[in-house]
Amino acid sequence: MADAILTTRGLCRSFGALRAVDDVTLDVRRGSITGLIGPNGAGKSTLFNLLAGVLPPDAGEIALEGRPLSGPPEARFAAGLGRTFQIPRPFARMSVLENVMLAPMGQTGETLWGAILGRGKVRGEEARHRARAMEILDFVTLAPLADHPAGQISGGQMKLLELARVLMGDPRVILLDEPAAGVNPVLTETLIGKIEALNAAGTTFVVIEHDMDFVMRHCDPVIALAEGRVIFQGTAAEAQANPALLDAYLGAPVDA
Ligand SMILES: Nc1ncnc2c1ncn2[C@@H]1O[C@H](COP(=O)(O)OP(=O)(O)O)[C@@H](O)[C@H]1O
Ligand SMILES: [Mg+2]
Repeated sequence: MADAILTTRGLCRSFGALRAVDDVTLDVRRGSITGLIGPNGAGKSTLFNLLAGVLPPDAGEIALEGRPLSGPPEARFAAGLGRTFQIPRPFARMSVLENVMLAPMGQTGETLWGAILGRGKVRGEEARHRARAMEILDFVTLAPLADHPAGQISGGQMKLLELARVLMGDPRVILLDEPAAGVNPVLTETLIGKIEALNAAGTTFVVIEHDMDFVMRHCDPVIALAEGRVIFQGTAAEAQANPALLDAYLGAPVDA
């Protein structure tokens, strides 16, 4: 692909005899909100874990901006790849603000984030870190909850907190694992608004989502996995009309 920001080549990962991710080669288009769909157990979260460095692959390569992406999650975060988890796990007794401040801050000068907020970088390091965390909390509408224990906020607010933590790193690419699952419709709309705003400012997203309405409205292109393999790439409308995809869903275990 001419302008791929994130690529994989022959990515494989097994758990025992199970090939959870099986020879996945794909290009994520710069500036896209790419939807990653597929039935439960298709390997979507495992693929994210491989991309984010949570799991080592058995084989294959990953590149971000044409440079090999390897090493631990922190190194990949620093390189510009952020990810959220399907099940958020904040430090429950720490405040919302402290949870955001735990994330290392991107060091880029003219960042997307700076562009959105138009702030200089003249503050002291610690104060700057705190101020940035507050600005990001404000952006994700969680500023009023900054001092609340993170364990006491709602599931939807935890998803927004996850996004806030990721934004501390000035990511070029953000991987979102089921952002709308279990989130009330109002917070889902808030989250979607933030994703669209960040995307308009240049951030690329890969979004795992089961809600086809969400995928239809916000994702282009759509990549489908089944049994660890890429079985479809195209528009959301094409995905909905694709018989192989329907078969994959019908043949899949139903656990959610
Ligand atoms: N850490 C693990 N150990 C063993 N099996 C796993 C592990 N993680 C995922 N799997 C298995 O790999 C397959 C793909 O899982 P996953 O990537 O979570 O699928 P998805 O996110 O598409 O629902 C499933 O069969 C799952 O049970
Ligand atoms: Mg999953």
